[in-house]
Amino acid sequence: MRRKISIIGAGQTGASTAQRIVERGYADVVLTDVVEGLAEGKALDLQESAPIVGFDARVTGATTTPDGRGYEATANSDLVIITSGVPRKPGMSRDELLSINQQVITTVVQAVVQQSPHCIIIMLTNPVDAMTQLAYRVSGFSSNRVVGQAGILDTARYKTFLALELGVSFQDVDAYVLGGHGDTMVPLPDSTYVGGRPLKSLLSADRIQKIIERTRRGGEEIVSYLKTGSAFYAPSAALAEMADAILLDQKRVLPCCAYLEGQYGIRGLYVGVPVKLGASGVEEIIELPLSEDERGALHRSAEAVRALVQAMKL
Ligand code: 2OP
Repeated sequence: MRRKISIIGAGQTGASTAQRIVERGYADVVLTDVVEGLAEGKALDLQESAPIVGFDARVTGATTTPDGRGYEATANSDLVIITSGVPRKPGMSRDELLSINQQVITTVVQAVVQQSPHCIIIMLTNPVDAMTQLAYRVSGFSSNRVVGQAGILDTARYKTFLALELGVSFQDVDAYVLGGHGDTMVPLPDSTYVGGRPLKSLLSADRIQKIIERTRRGGEEIVSYLKTGSAFYAPSAALAEMADAILLDQKRVLPCCAYLEGQYGIRGLYVGVPVKLGASGVEEIIELPLSEDERGALHRSAEAVRALVQAMKL
């Protein structure tokens, strides 16, 4: 029997994620949205691509209500990916979405957990570190079963800019971006390698700094072009990579928003770090050796996340 993945929110990111996952063929997908007919329409359109693309997985849609009804179609999901909520507009920070998305995510998580008490939850909604912490609290799940997507996207942007600058394959840049998904995110240039060579031997400190700045503002750069809505191709690719790691028990080491209980000197907080992702969700927090500067930057980023979490008054 195929596994089941529900994707909450059929906007650009939710629908793109549904497409990426259903085309892989290993899981049936349920897509939901509060806009009547949106999820059903996109799901049917995707299903009708099956004879052309060549997959057998089923994809269906369902309309839910803002007060948490209509989630029956998601029952007994193995994995639930939450993309609902409001994206930012040009000039807004992710943090400005806090209170509106707190209400949305609280209702969504309650409804999801009622239907799928054994699922793993991946959170995407911004501000993602705070929303992942919220999902952890509201769900009552153990922390390994609630994880946020941010680091894979931030790392992909950093790798993209480096590969373009250096004229090498996107796949030959080895790097991590840690910390919160915001202006305080922490790229690790000291541990970035390109085809085995240290980044610092290939680019000047000034060029590296410019790429780090562009990475920090990567989401904003897309928002300023699109004007309505935010990035979705790279975020959906990151979500599909996490779904593969969990449902195919790949035990990938990926930067994700995970609950720290003393690792990196941070306690009781979701923040971006490398984790081992497999069938149980977050199976291990990987502690990289960090320089003093990097550790300081990670702590500053964690404090920015903690301030948001405190503002939610959970
Ligand atoms: C981004 O960085 C939407 O936060 C997401 O593009």
